[in-house]
Amino acid sequence: MSATTVPTPASRQRFRRALLSWYRKNGRSLPWRHTSDPYHILVSEVMLQQTQVDRVLPKYHEWLERYPSLDALASAPVDEVAQTWRPLGYNIRPKRLQAIARESVTRFGGELPSDEATLLSFKGIGAYTAGAIRSFAFGQRAAILDTNVARVLFRVFVSRGDAKAHAMRRQLWEISEAVLPHRHVFDFNQGLMDLGATVCVARNPKCELCPMTRMCRTYPGRRSK
Ligand code: ADE
Repeated sequence: MSATTVPTPASRQRFRRALLSWYRKNGRSLPWRHTSDPYHILVSEVMLQQTQVDRVLPKYHEWLERYPSLDALASAPVDEVAQTWRPLGYNIRPKRLQAIARESVTRFGGELPSDEATLLSFKGIGAYTAGAIRSFAFGQRAAILDTNVARVLFRVFVSRGDAKAHAMRRQLWEISEAVLPHRHVFDFNQGLMDLGATVCVARNPKCELCPMTRMCRTYPGRRSK
C-alpha cells in the first residue's frame, strides 16, 4: 500500500467547506435528520444498515409508533418485534435492536449512553453505529465510516491501493476523523453519507455534480498526481 498521508489542515478545510455547502443545498430531508433522540437515531441506523432509504421510511415511522421508547421495545414480545420488522427482511437486526434496548434498560435505566467505550460494549453496536449515535444524537465530534463514506474518502484522498483491505480501512477511519470539523458535525457526517449515496456512487459516479472534483485524487486526469 502506498504511504498515504492524512490530509493537510488546508485540504481538510477545503473538504469541510465544500461538503457542508453542498449538503445544505442538496442534502435529503429525512426524518432522522430532524431529531437528536438517541433511540430514533439508533433505529434509523440499524434499519439503514442493509436497506435502502425509501424502504426504511415507512417502517421507521411505524416502528416508532409501535415502540416509542427503548423501554417499550425492551418489554415487547420477541416474536412480535420480529414480525414488525419482517418487511425489512428476515434477519438478525430486530433481535439485535431489541437486545440493545433490553441492555439499555438493565444497565442505564432505558437510556443510551453517549461515550464511545460504553456504546461499543453493547452487543450489536459497532464502530459505525457508535459514531453515528455520538455525532447525530449527542453532537460529539465522532467520525463514521460505512461503505458509502469509505468510497468517498478513498476516492478523494487516497485513490491508490486496495480500497477494501484491512489496513486501508484503518487509514480511512483516520481520514474520517481528520476531516471532521469541530462544529456542524451532524450535517458534515450526514453530508458524507449523502455524497456517497447520491453522487459518488459505486458505478458511474456523477462527477459533474460533485463539489470535490478540484481536490479529488480519482477525478479523471488526476489519478497520476
Ligand atoms: N445510511 C446509513 N445512515 C444513513 C443516514 N443517516 N442517512 C441516509 N442514509 C444512511
